[in-house]
Amino acid sequence: MSLFLLPFPFIIALLLVLAWRRRTQRLKADATAWQIQNIKSMKRQGAHETATLLADLIENDGAGAWPPKTNYGSWPEPLRAYKDIYLELVPTLPAANPSLDDDVNQEKRNKYRMRMRKLLSERVDIVGVEKLMIAAAAGDTDAFPRDVYNAFYCCIAVCRHAYRWATIPVVKVAQLEKIVDFPPELDVPWPYLQRSFRVDADSGNNTANVLHNFDENGERVFKINVGLNELITSSEDAFFRLFYDLEVLAMPIYYDMIRAVVCFEENDTVSCLTHLQNITFRVRTLLKVFYDGLTASRVSKEVWLSYVQGFQGWGVGRMINGEYVKFDGLSGNHVLIFQALDAFLGIGRYLSDENMDRYIPGRQRDLCVALKKHSFRGKLKGPMDCQIEEEFKKIVNHMKLFRSAHRTRVMPYLEQPAPERLTMTAGKSVLEGPDAKSALKVLDDMLVTRLKQTA
Ligand code: HEM
Repeated sequence: MSLFLLPFPFIIALLLVLAWRRRTQRLKADATAWQIQNIKSMKRQGAHETATLLADLIENDGAGAWPPKTNYGSWPEPLRAYKDIYLELVPTLPAANPSLDDDVNQEKRNKYRMRMRKLLSERVDIVGVEKLMIAAAAGDTDAFPRDVYNAFYCCIAVCRHAYRWATIPVVKVAQLEKIVDFPPELDVPWPYLQRSFRVDADSGNNTANVLHNFDENGERVFKINVGLNELITSSEDAFFRLFYDLEVLAMPIYYDMIRAVVCFEENDTVSCLTHLQNITFRVRTLLKVFYDGLTASRVSKEVWLSYVQGFQGWGVGRMINGEYVKFDGLSGNHVLIFQALDAFLGIGRYLSDENMDRYIPGRQRDLCVALKKHSFRGKLKGPMDCQIEEEFKKIVNHMKLFRSAHRTRVMPYLEQPAPERLTMTAGKSVLEGPDAKSALKVLDDMLVTRLKQTA
């Protein structure tokens, strides 16, 4: 219907709502830009370790912003073929009706892998790629700008996941693989990228595969269920957008956490309390994105397990120093804001040291270590401190609420039938156990334990 056919007052109301929305978005972006400037100037003044580490994260990994900036528009010539190849092959990756026959599945996978290997070897100038990786490692941001580097990290990570599974939904024959022989074009740049982000895994992670998968206009670049029905494609989009939106709302919380720490250490209790109140308010807003976003109407339970989750898994490994080491795929446990809040509240870490090193970029780890070191919840004793303590309690309660909601929301997604595969989560790979129910019980126990630790 043409806009001119609508009643005049309706048009005015619509325009006002749009203008108000645009203004709110601009104000939000301005506030975040101001906070980033503030953190950078705190770093310049050597004001606090936590501010320096957040500024380092933004300036380096974030290419000057947070969530991290990407650039998909102007890539150096040797890198361009990767993106084209992923996009050219992606319509052949998913299957609307996955087969239950191992041979049929294996044939489809072999075909996909052969085509990818062939296109990579024909079109990628691997020497040119390695030269660029070396230039980036030497800090040459003219040859390889950081926002392009972030986009390329995502591109290689998703190409590796595509090659690893070679079909969507993931199928038993793929899950039973132990070692994958990747094409050299996917192996050569990977250690450079992983060294730069200080992560050890062969698989991708939430930063590479999810956050970096949004372009300058906020559009997702490397989708996986291309050509399948609307229920699947919209569930895929809604699910991953949730993680990005959360990180947008997390930035001001990192800022307030740092300001709260600094104010506490300077005995400025009143300002400290204000920052804590900001955190409480912002955490509530952020968690609303999770509560509103992970619902059956946005992310369908029927399709999530087979079509959205599987590709993010990994579950293969390689021999390292004579030992077989297997890596896992992506999990919500990679998300920085939850780790940062736990650290700020003085709660012990969820992930082991080994898993932190494998999946969480070094600068994100450093920030959390510093937030934990400067956590002051256990140091409250002054006369004004009871108000601060009350505010901390509110934040802890939000985290408890999130953890119990997460537990009840996610279990039905994992319990869906997926006869083409073995029981698996992306974050924990194929699950051991006599049956699916007991395998899932192990996961539920992890979530219950974490909920109990949130005190
Ligand atoms: C249907 C979707 C989801 C499922 C099935 C799911 C499942 C799980 C499972 C089984 C765990 C425990 C095992 C592990 O550490 O990997 C876990 C952990 C976790 N998940 Fe999710 N998850 C989902 C969505 C999300 C979302 C959207 C977020 C937040 C953006 C999230 C955040 C977390 C966090 C932070 C942890 C670590 C434990 C904790 O801190 O409480 N998950 N998830």
